[in-house]
Amino acid sequence: MTLTPKPGILDITPYVGGRAAVAGVDKVIKLSSNESPLGPSPHAVEALAKSSHDLQFYPEGSAQILREAIGEVYGLDPARIVASGDGSDALLTMLANAYLRPGDEVLFSEHDFILYKIATFANSAVPVEIPDPKLRFDVDAALARVAPRTRVVFVANPNNPTGSYITHEEMRRLHAGLSPDTLLVIDAAYSEYVRKNDYEPGIEMVSHYPNVVMTRTFSKVHGLAGMRIGWTYAPAAVCDVLNRIRGPFNVTMMQQHVAAAAIRDRAHVERSVAHNEQWKGWLTDEIRKLGLTVNESVGNFILIQFPKGEAAKADAFLSARGLILRAVGNYGLPDALRLTIGLADDNQRVVAALRDFMSR
Ligand SMILES: Cc1ncc(COP(=O)(O)O)c(C=O)c1O
Repeated sequence: MTLTPKPGILDITPYVGGRAAVAGVDKVIKLSSNESPLGPSPHAVEALAKSSHDLQFYPEGSAQILREAIGEVYGLDPARIVASGDGSDALLTMLANAYLRPGDEVLFSEHDFILYKIATFANSAVPVEIPDPKLRFDVDAALARVAPRTRVVFVANPNNPTGSYITHEEMRRLHAGLSPDTLLVIDAAYSEYVRKNDYEPGIEMVSHYPNVVMTRTFSKVHGLAGMRIGWTYAPAAVCDVLNRIRGPFNVTMMQQHVAAAAIRDRAHVERSVAHNEQWKGWLTDEIRKLGLTVNESVGNFILIQFPKGEAAKADAFLSARGLILRAVGNYGLPDALRLTIGLADDNQRVVAALRDFMSR
């Protein structure tokens, strides 16, 4: 007899984050993890300094300060919010832990956020990848794969790493084809960046249906990836389940105060979104002019597709100049690199380096 984990766990390829260093290069520009180039709100930084005392005490256990701030900003009932001090990753994992039984099927798009597969295997469940030849979630293909064993459907909206999104109407159509005991998880990590009239982050969906949840994060537009704070807006019964299984003190007071200050600073969010919009458009145009394919993205990153076999060479070429993008071979996209929108100078350097790469 040997100590053995649950079936599926050893099928997991551990998550690898974006690189932050290049051997032999002193100064790097990290554009590999969809972090905000403008960083957090100054109010959030101030809140961190003010709240870094009384460390001997456990935090208030329900993240009340943070849930009330989120409720105030979005007009939501704080009782329907559950926060996490380990990012929205932890909420996605908790949802899988709560609702998946061995052998259950979990649907997500072929080129999708890798955590869904990890959370599926961790629960001895079966991943069902929906083909997405157009690099966007294909609702019809998903509906064709829905089966009695389908228990959870993950939709990253917008999707990482493709930058695509599905409309509110498409989301409703997907939901209409699911059984009431299937959970639809709308992962809206990049929702704040979306400027589309036909997009809905998930609040409407959660308000209407008992089997839909939306997850959000402070890691992207709020520039707080280092603080690891996420939240979910969910039906009361799902909140009840999450509150039973989450860590009893899973959000520190520092996290609560920092995130509350960040979400209330709407001007900072607007600045971050406006910066993203401007430079995403510029990068998309300039990189297309070099003859490369760039997908239309509604997030804070773009996916650049290279001729076959060239992405790894481009990655090495850019890395040697201290420019770190994200190789996405493990997302099934070996000929692409994902680029996070950076500061003006970062973006200009990337285009200059890509121009040199293409004309080498
Ligand atoms: C689609 C998507 N969902 C969730 C996350 C996780 O965010 P966090 O755990 O930092 O809240 C990410 C991070 O890259 C993401 O791309």
